[in-house]
Amino acid sequence: MKIRQAIAGQTGLSRTDRVAILRYVCNLTTEQVYTNLDAEISDRDLEALERALNERMSGKPLAYITGKREFFSETFAVNESVLIPRPETEILIEEALRRVHGRKDRLILDMGCGSGAIGAIMAKETGSRVVCVDISYEAIRVARKNAESIGVGHLMEFICSDLFESFKPHVCFDMILANLPYVTHEEWKGLMRDVRDFEPRLALDGGEDGLDLYRRLIVSLPGRLTPAGDILLEIGSAWQARQLKAMLEEAGLDNRVINDYANKERVLVGHG
Ligand SMILES: C[S@@+](CC[C@H](N)C(=O)[O-])C[C@H]1O[C@@H](n2cnc3c(N)ncnc32)[C@H](O)[C@@H]1O
Repeated sequence: MKIRQAIAGQTGLSRTDRVAILRYVCNLTTEQVYTNLDAEISDRDLEALERALNERMSGKPLAYITGKREFFSETFAVNESVLIPRPETEILIEEALRRVHGRKDRLILDMGCGSGAIGAIMAKETGSRVVCVDISYEAIRVARKNAESIGVGHLMEFICSDLFESFKPHVCFDMILANLPYVTHEEWKGLMRDVRDFEPRLALDGGEDGLDLYRRLIVSLPGRLTPAGDILLEIGSAWQARQLKAMLEEAGLDNRVINDYANKERVLVGHG
């Protein structure tokens, strides 16, 4: 089969997906694909191509097929044990960077790090030390690998822990960043198949109202945030924003909500 036929074939998949899968399987750049349209695909590549196209048709996200996702201008390795980093998480990072004010001496925590996308970008952009925590050992392995490939491994530490459970007392941070699971049980039922059937439930399911993890995190905050420290939480709705605002106020933190580009409540910022 020629490259031209592989791109034109397969019903039910977008051209973008077909070209991306072809590039991945045959190890080609986009330019090489379009300048070699009449080249024959080897039998071995053809077999791998058919397998990957079938996986995509069954709903497997492209990022899990190619094993990578671009995020904040860096390439992150991903597999089915980590959430695929989302564009909306860049809003949390942009606000965190504004609040760091170019200082390199901050100790930053990425709680629920998954692929390490938040932590690695913070280390790269600020030069500060970052601790990444996840309850999933597999996620910690992926995050560590990403930190090395992005060149910030020397600034980062990785801890497999259920929130602060494995931390010594009195370890505290200048900034806590968290994109913990916040999908409600009702929302879970309506998630796209690509997400619900392939991404780890542990990374998405926040309990009945989506706030199980954030409630526990806020309760365990005393002693974990320096007096003028910042906490930034990614959230999914106006209702969640109101609930968490009240909890942060009770914990003595000033706070405000930042909306995303679709004008949806996306990040809650608390300040000590
Ligand atoms: C929504 S994903 C976010 C991943 C990554 N921070 C990102 O933004 O792409 C939530 C992450 O929290 C982790 N997690 C879930 N429960 C946890 C817990 N009790 N303690 C620590 N991490 C937890 C999951 O394993 C998952 O990697």
